[in-house]
Amino acid sequence: MFLALLVLFSILVFNSATENEEIKCKESEKHALLKFKQSLQDEYGMLSTWKDDSNVDCCKWKGVQCNNQTGYVQILDLRGSETRYLSGQINPSITELKHLKYLDLGSLSTSGQIPKFIGSFSNLQYLDLSYSGYDGKIPSQLGNLSQLQHLNLRANNLIGVIPFQLGNLSSLESLMLGYNSDLRIKSQSQGNVEWLTNLFSLRHLDLSCVQNLNDSSSHTLQFLVKLKSLEELYLSKCGLSDANMYPLYESNLNFSTSLTTLGLGQNQLTSLRIFHWVLNYSSNLQELQLNDNLLRGTIPDDFGNIMHSLLNLYLPYNSLEGNIPKSIGNICTLESFEANDNHLSVIRFMARYLTFQLSSLSTLDLDDNKLTGEIPTSIGSLMELEYLNLGGNSFEGIVSESHFTNLSRLVELELSHNLLTVKMSLNSLTGGIPTCVNNFTSLTEDAVNSTSSTDHWYTVNTTDVSLSLQYDFDLSLMWKGVEQRYKNADLLLKSIDLSRNHLIGEIPAEMEYLFGLISLNLSRNNLSGEIISNIGKFKSLEFLDLSRNHLSGRIPSSLAQIDRLTMLDLSYNQLYGKIPIGTQLQSFNASSFEGNSNLCGEPLDRKCPGEEPTKSQVSTTNGGDENSIFLEALYMSMGIGFFTGFVGLVGSILLLPSWRESYSRFLNTLILKVFKWWKQ
Ligand SMILES: *[C@@H]1O[C@H](CO)[C@@H](O)[C@H](O)[C@H]1NC(C)=O
Ligand SMILES: *[C@@H]1O[C@H](CO)[C@@H](O)[C@H](O)[C@H]1NC(C)=O
Ligand SMILES: *[C@@H]1O[C@H](CO)[C@@H](O)[C@H](O)[C@H]1NC(C)=O
Ligand SMILES: *[C@@H]1O[C@H](CO)[C@@H](O)[C@H](O)[C@H]1NC(C)=O
Ligand SMILES: *[C@@H]1O[C@H](CO)[C@@H](O)[C@H](O)[C@H]1NC(C)=O
Ligand SMILES: *[C@@H]1O[C@H](CO)[C@@H](O)[C@H](O)[C@H]1NC(C)=O
Ligand SMILES: *[C@@H]1O[C@H](CO)[C@@H](O)[C@H](O)[C@H]1NC(C)=O
Ligand SMILES: *[C@@H]1O[C@H](CO)[C@@H](O)[C@H](O)[C@H]1NC(C)=O
Ligand SMILES: *[C@@H]1O[C@H](CO)[C@@H](O)[C@H](O)[C@H]1NC(C)=O
Ligand SMILES: *[C@@H]1O[C@H](CO)[C@@H](O)[C@H](O)[C@H]1NC(C)=O
Ligand SMILES: *[C@@H]1O[C@H](CO)[C@@H](O)[C@H](O)[C@H]1NC(C)=O
Ligand SMILES: *[C@@H]1O[C@H](CO)[C@@H](O)[C@H](O)[C@H]1NC(C)=O
Repeated sequence: MFLALLVLFSILVFNSATENEEIKCKESEKHALLKFKQSLQDEYGMLSTWKDDSNVDCCKWKGVQCNNQTGYVQILDLRGSETRYLSGQINPSITELKHLKYLDLGSLSTSGQIPKFIGSFSNLQYLDLSYSGYDGKIPSQLGNLSQLQHLNLRANNLIGVIPFQLGNLSSLESLMLGYNSDLRIKSQSQGNVEWLTNLFSLRHLDLSCVQNLNDSSSHTLQFLVKLKSLEELYLSKCGLSDANMYPLYESNLNFSTSLTTLGLGQNQLTSLRIFHWVLNYSSNLQELQLNDNLLRGTIPDDFGNIMHSLLNLYLPYNSLEGNIPKSIGNICTLESFEANDNHLSVIRFMARYLTFQLSSLSTLDLDDNKLTGEIPTSIGSLMELEYLNLGGNSFEGIVSESHFTNLSRLVELELSHNLLTVKMSLNSLTGGIPTCVNNFTSLTEDAVNSTSSTDHWYTVNTTDVSLSLQYDFDLSLMWKGVEQRYKNADLLLKSIDLSRNHLIGEIPAEMEYLFGLISLNLSRNNLSGEIISNIGKFKSLEFLDLSRNHLSGRIPSSLAQIDRLTMLDLSYNQLYGKIPIGTQLQSFNASSFEGNSNLCGEPLDRKCPGEEPTKSQVSTTNGGDENSIFLEALYMSMGIGFFTGFVGLVGSILLLPSWRESYSRFLNTLILKVFKWWKQ
């Protein structure tokens, strides 16, 4: 009995020992990988675990996976990204990895032809060389990869005819060749695309930007009819006309069970037949891209009754007209609806149609249409809305808080270029605010007090992407990422564009707390009063446009302290007195100041009679360097001054519970970011 146990034990020990040995990678493969590494530049340390050390097991290297029985390398995944990638050439040494099944070298920064030797990986099932800068032709040797299921050569600089040998890859499920320089499906004079019809297992096909698919002489797209399993089809930017689509239209082939994504953007389609085809034969689509075509006419009325699965509908840059069908309101799944730059003209379509059941819509872009009427308050029931662009239409009437009561997730709102009146008096916002301020202040202190406990930070929900707040009735307040030097303290308000509205009253002094502003455009309103004297605090300001208002008083001398100001327009106001002297202001064109009949001094021709030079009215903190701006931000964010100031600007938001939630979310994040920065 004991002996039996002992034997069993030793077998177990022996087994696990051999297993351990087996898992180790082969010396020859390790050398091949090291050689492969040598011919690459690894600026971002992606291969830092690849050490040349006799004891080291290359199966444990980052990006390498071996078969756990044989120890042969099976997976090499060195996919880069825009910000972290390898550079150089693929060393032929990797052909030593004969058992490789998966090779992902996407985003390798390289040039030259795709190496022919790639064709020798006879076990390869997955090959991704996308976003890499390869040029020249696709080597026909890739047709040797008989096990290949996934081939991605997207976004290189490939040219020439796609080799028909790819037709031998009968297991291929995914063929992504889109967005290359000049790939052709066949040569101008000859060749056919029959080989594509062999790929009957294809589920994902991207031939965007491939030439000669729009050949007028033949039914080039006929091959699609054979690809019955397609789930994803991209034929964007292929110069396709209505005639090119006929093979598909006339086939009566029903893709409704499979096709989920159809990309036909940037083509020359004019006929609405594409809608009818989709309705008849692709009704399970989740994404339909028809942007940048020449579509004319009206979206079919029953569109929304049939396309039940649609998540994303892209129709911008066409010539669609007429009503947006009310049935769109029946697509409960819709997340984005973009139809900007058309000639759609619907009165109150949102009120009546769009707002019932579309509860998951997060993007609504109807910029530059002919939408008229009032913006219905029921827009407020699109509770998931994050991006709303209704600019460039002919909406009229009043926009008020009630429109936005429920839009607590709104990140960007664009309503410019309408005929709207904003119901908001900028200078009476401070009323009723103190209670809120108290609430936020305590919230802030709490956060700052508990910095020692990291746990606490995680109770603050900072995963929310709405780090940027952009709203206020007719306002675009953009909270956006600032330059990296702030280490992603991406919460400074960067740009306000309230131009061409009917804003009345004075510019609120509290605006000075929006210290991170880079661009402020309040032109073409009815603003009165003086330019805030603290304008010099906008140290990052590059664009300032206050033209065509009724602003009066002198130009604050602090304006001359903004070093970065590259564009200034104060024209057509009632400003008077001497233009302050400074490095900047005199360098602007006189037109920046024209239309103010009592303004004088350079760069205007008008001399100032007996004018004394004004002194700087604003003392700034120690220097304008980034750190001090940031520290200033920190102190402000901790002090009540910030809140009163900021709250003063967006005060009425705070009186609305839903907006308050967004705001407090924002504050949490701001404080977190600022604090993190400060601790470093
Ligand atoms: C070996 O790999 C196979 C497939 O990848 C996996 O199912 C199995 O659990 C692995 N065995 C061990 C011991 O890791
Ligand atoms: C491709 O296959 C052909 C014939 O099957 C063979 O002669 C050729 O060497 C292979 N090419 C590569 C690169 O493996
Ligand atoms: C496909 O492979 C077969 C052998 O498997 C070969 O006879 C044929 O020539 C190949 N066709 C193409 C187009 O490469
Ligand atoms: C095909 O599309 C290209 C643009 O992608 C265009 O230049 C060419 O004229 C089109 N060919 C035909 C036959 O329409
Ligand atoms: C189906 O196609 C026919 C012919 O193009 C069209 O008349 C009809 O309206 C389409 N059906 C739907 C539901 O759009
Ligand atoms: C296509 O298939 C879908 C789903 O199976 C079906 O609802 C639809 O009626 C079919 N279209 C035609 C025109 O037969
Ligand atoms: C806001 O949401 C509540 C609760 O869902 C709803 O009763 C109310 O009508 C909505 N308000 C607007 C303006 O849509
Ligand atoms: C402040 O917070 C308290 C407790 O959380 C709450 O009851 C009160 O309604 C809040 N006040 C305002 C104005 O939001
Ligand atoms: C934060 O800490 C200070 C000083 O320790 C204390 O006076 C204050 O009450 C604290 N605030 C909160 C909300 O705990
Ligand atoms: C943070 O917010 C997101 C979206 O609002 C939510 O899905 C997630 O559960 C929240 N996380 C925490 C920890 O509250
Ligand atoms: C401000 O807006 C007006 C009108 O929309 C526009 O003409 C002007 O160029 C903008 N100014 C800046 C600095 O962007
Ligand atoms: C500005 O106000 C004046 C009168 O105060 C009014 O006549 C004019 O229409 C207003 N302009 C705008 C663009 O609202």
